[in-house]
Amino acid sequence: MAETSSTVPLEKIPQHVAIIMDGNGRWALQRGLPRLAGHKAGTENLRRVIRSTVEFGVKYLTIYAFSTENWGRPPEEVKGLMYILEDVIDRELNELHKEGVQLRHIGRLERLAPSLQEKVLDAIDVTKNNDRLILNIAFNYGGRDEIVQAIQRMMKDGVPPEKVTDELVSQYLYTAGVPDPDLIIRTSGELRVSNFLIWQAAYSEWYITPTFWPDFDKDEYRRALEAFAHRDRRYGKVASGELQESNA
Ligand code: IPE
Ligand code: IPE
Ligand code: MG
Repeated sequence: MAETSSTVPLEKIPQHVAIIMDGNGRWALQRGLPRLAGHKAGTENLRRVIRSTVEFGVKYLTIYAFSTENWGRPPEEVKGLMYILEDVIDRELNELHKEGVQLRHIGRLERLAPSLQEKVLDAIDVTKNNDRLILNIAFNYGGRDEIVQAIQRMMKDGVPPEKVTDELVSQYLYTAGVPDPDLIIRTSGELRVSNFLIWQAAYSEWYITPTFWPDFDKDEYRRALEAFAHRDRRYGKVASGELQESNA
């Protein structure tokens, strides 16, 4: 049974949650620890959040783990983040597989070490028939990069201009076939999109919290879902209640 808070009815649970897992560095700084210790704590938290996501009955989870701009960080930090991805796959794959999690990657694999690329592809292959939760890992991901490569591929395919539609563009993105995120959570209080899912977020609801990612726990996750359940998603139209009144 999906465990939800009594205040979040099942039908109000978002289908797709996306998370900008931010604030690992500041979490570490606050404790006088190196930034990588923050990333490790963040990764531990991710394990818990994936578990809660399954329990809440959310079907798609997309996590922002490494952006195309994060290459600009000090080399030791970049190296550490690569190592963490590798380590997570080594340690968690079996458990995730058992829980019915299907792993996917969005972004570019090219720049990663060949052994890491292999590990990612293998994890995707092993879990490809799972359907309890689709977990998209955005690693070496950039929203602009995604759109640029979509345009390039459309042009290579000889798509005529009049055939370029919203739907077609969506099919050329890394997230082809995945519904747009209903709810995007950003930890650590920054009020920006940082190149994350810029096409797909057109009508996503946002939940931004000052909590640093390693401290974002199940209670706060539930609060984010509760906040989402109370949103009125208008998609540029008028509220459904108003429409009924004006028709009366
Ligand atoms: C998010 O935490 C993780 C990655 C970007 C890889 P940060 O490392 O950005 O933490 P802050 O923002 O410096 O606190
Ligand atoms: C966004 O966080 C990227 C990830 C969480 C992986 P950043 O910390 O890189 O974003 P900025 O630099 O604050 O915009
Ligand atoms: Mg940050």
